[in-house]
Amino acid sequence: MRSLRLRSYAKINLGLEVLAQREDGYHELRTLFQTIDLADDVVLRPRARGVRVLCDHPLVPTDATNLAARAAELVRGHAGVKRGVEIEIRKRIPVGGGLGGGSSNAAAVLMGLDRMWRLGLGPEGLHRLARRLGADVPYFLLGGTALGLARGDEVYPLHRQLRAHVVVVDPGIHVSTARVFARLDTRLTPRENSNSIYYFVSRELEGSGAYRFLQNDLEEAALEEAPALREHAGRIRAVLLREGACLAALSGSGSSYFGLFENVRPAKRARAALAAEGLTALVGRTLTLEQYRGAWGRARNR
Ligand code: C5P
Repeated sequence: MRSLRLRSYAKINLGLEVLAQREDGYHELRTLFQTIDLADDVVLRPRARGVRVLCDHPLVPTDATNLAARAAELVRGHAGVKRGVEIEIRKRIPVGGGLGGGSSNAAAVLMGLDRMWRLGLGPEGLHRLARRLGADVPYFLLGGTALGLARGDEVYPLHRQLRAHVVVVDPGIHVSTARVFARLDTRLTPRENSNSIYYFVSRELEGSGAYRFLQNDLEEAALEEAPALREHAGRIRAVLLREGACLAALSGSGSSYFGLFENVRPAKRARAALAAEGLTALVGRTLTLEQYRGAWGRARNR
């Protein structure tokens, strides 16, 4: 059996509404997920036994707590597989940046092992395992422009898939998602009537005006959690909007901000302007559901 090399893409949240606390300690969400072409490489190599993780990023644990390792153990346990696997992760997605890197790596491992070990788990089997690993993992089995409900783990692809250029700003600050949610709890009032995302979805992304309704309910809590981020937030948003972004927002619980652009030139200008202010910014593109599936289908045996 040969090795398998996978691209493990990042996501941004175009909008995120926190509706209420749930009995299970999680929060009821409404979010719009979007995959972008910023990606880690995940290589799966057959091993006689056990799960081993290698990663080039100092903040990523390589022990059994790594979400990709947990994904592999879950598949082995579920399918009764005795063989092992080595998982090598080359990180490009900022860690603790709200871009879903760890969840994406875990989804890549689920899909990769299903294929490598010819388990035939199918979309439903994979989804069940993904939900056990984390709220964002099921989305990465799908990709593209999608609505996320419940914990974010009930995902629905949108009919109209977004095509845009993206500038991702990495302030280099690690923000804990759990702590941002915990901070929010101190002042969360249930708001089932919030409907900016439904409004956006029902308008099916018509025109850039639809973006102005979107919001990220985690932003204020994230800025409280990471005061250093607050120092940059205003400037980042101002530069992105000045250069013509139709949406400038925090992704997930942060710390990454992003700007959406219809054209690549203003996106590159924004990157240059941010770099001039000492900020790391990357220019990429959104990936539609079809493009995401296509990239997965091209995963190479080596
Ligand atoms: O599911 P995951 O481990 O990625 O979530 C990280 C943390 O974020 C959870 O432990 C929880 O505190 C918080 N969270 C939440 N509600 C959600 C998703 C995440 O409270 N819908």
